[in-house]
Amino acid sequence: MQRVVEGRARITVRQNAFYNPKMKGLRDISVLFLRAMGAKKYSVLDSTAATGIRGIRYRLEAGAGKVTLLDINKGTLAGIKGNMKTNKVKGSVLNQSIQKFCNTTEDTFQVIDLDPFGTAAPYIYDLMKVSEDGTVMMATCTDTAVLCGAHPQACYKTYGAVPAHNELCHEAATRILIGFIAKIASQFNFGLDMKLSVSNLHYIRVFFVLRHGAKEAVESVKRTGFGSFCNQCRSFSYSFGLAPKISGRCSNCGSENLIFGPLWLGNLHDKKVLGKMAALQPDDIDPDAKRLIGRINSEMDTPFFYSVPKLTRQLGIGAVSKRKVIEKLAGRYAVSETHFDLDGIKTDAPISEVIKAIKGA
Ligand SMILES: C[S@@+](CC[C@H](N)C(=O)[O-])C[C@H]1O[C@@H](n2cnc3c(N)ncnc32)[C@H](O)[C@@H]1O
Repeated sequence: MQRVVEGRARITVRQNAFYNPKMKGLRDISVLFLRAMGAKKYSVLDSTAATGIRGIRYRLEAGAGKVTLLDINKGTLAGIKGNMKTNKVKGSVLNQSIQKFCNTTEDTFQVIDLDPFGTAAPYIYDLMKVSEDGTVMMATCTDTAVLCGAHPQACYKTYGAVPAHNELCHEAATRILIGFIAKIASQFNFGLDMKLSVSNLHYIRVFFVLRHGAKEAVESVKRTGFGSFCNQCRSFSYSFGLAPKISGRCSNCGSENLIFGPLWLGNLHDKKVLGKMAALQPDDIDPDAKRLIGRINSEMDTPFFYSVPKLTRQLGIGAVSKRKVIEKLAGRYAVSETHFDLDGIKTDAPISEVIKAIKGA
């Protein structure tokens, strides 16, 4: 048995219950996100509760009302109940699978947290049944190797998508996950209103609001499409649509393009929410999480980026400072760093201008 204090919660981790201290930063981000969203007394479904720490923290620190905690593992039940009692949080604790719960309850929830082992994909369909217009959903995947293309067949099978196994992989992985969710959500007449997307360590977590309506659902699906990437010159492009015309040849150097997707090509973040999160940050937030939110807040919200070291290697020149390349482009083009790759720059400059900036840096 292990006792931990995280945020305002005091948690006992019993045998059989999963608790990863390395995910404290992500739990801090989730609390901060809900605070920035500003809702009060909302109903929460912590659908993969383990110790119950998320549901409990949302109640103690982020204004949640009725809390429902679910876990398929019977061995977690007594521990979740004990932790709720210690923290004086009232709510329902159920030993059920997401699948069974969502197909039997008549309740819907204003906030849903999904944090399974590995992929979130098999749970999205059922969770749509307990969602309503305005439901805030937060979903984590830890199968990043699959989404990033280390096991492409697993990505075809789980997400119905071709991954990008190159420097764009983490951003493409995040967009494949969102595109997958948008497709399932649209079957329930929900569109996605993206609020925040985080790719860090071994996980991807996406935060969005479900907007109900046929128009919203169609608009959401229209924001998906495909990416193309040239392994020779490292340029990329993207095309919206379910069956867009995509050239098999790179428009910059004529080499063969790698096509990946389908994936989300819309915005990943809501800058208003990010700004509020940055302004709200309490002192006890994990310092790495604080830095991560800062980085995301300052990144351009457009698809894909250039990796400076990959381009210098391609050009056969020595290392150059990313900061200097950014300085060369700034003023004439929009340009920023990206949390998806510490060596990457996002910009609206064409690749020819990026190369000029690298050569002049
Ligand atoms: C990664 S842990 C959750 C960790 C927790 N959210 C935290 O932040 O500490 C995943 C939990 O989901 C539970 N789980 C797995 N499949 C499930 C399912 N189909 N329905 C409900 N719970 C499930 C597991 O028993 C496990 O306790």
